[in-house]
Amino acid sequence: MMFRFALFLSLLPLLAQAGPPVLPGQAIYQKNCARCHGADGRKGANGAHDLTKSNLNAFGRTYMVTKGMGKMPAFEKVLTPAQVQQVVAYSLTLK
Ligand code: HEC
Repeated sequence: MMFRFALFLSLLPLLAQAGPPVLPGQAIYQKNCARCHGADGRKGANGAHDLTKSNLNAFGRTYMVTKGMGKMPAFEKVLTPAQVQQVVAYSLTLK
């Protein structure tokens, strides 16, 4: 019984590695950004810009997400700086 449990535990890291890697920013994006920008960045709801066409670099996006602009909400009270960095990194993968 103990042995089986130990075997299960030793297999856990393998199970966790199965499937494509999920960027930490993806979950943050889906929760906070997808309602306007869409899961693929192209939705454009509420006047949101198409993120796949954005020329903003990580610096500009970090500012945008932290401070907001126009109808784009500021996330400085919602996300930690680390989470902003992760969601910005994820947004840069939307092409
Ligand atoms: C309530 C709708 C809404 C939500 C939610 C939202 N955005 Fe936006 N976003 C906008 C709007 C509107 C603009 C255009 C702002 C402007 O230039 O006036 C924008 C612009 C941007 C831009 C600049 C694009 C460009 O090049 O002009 C980035 C980057 C961005 N959003 C990222 C995000 C991220 C990341 C999140 C989640 C943390 C998010 N947005 C959540 C509405 C939203």
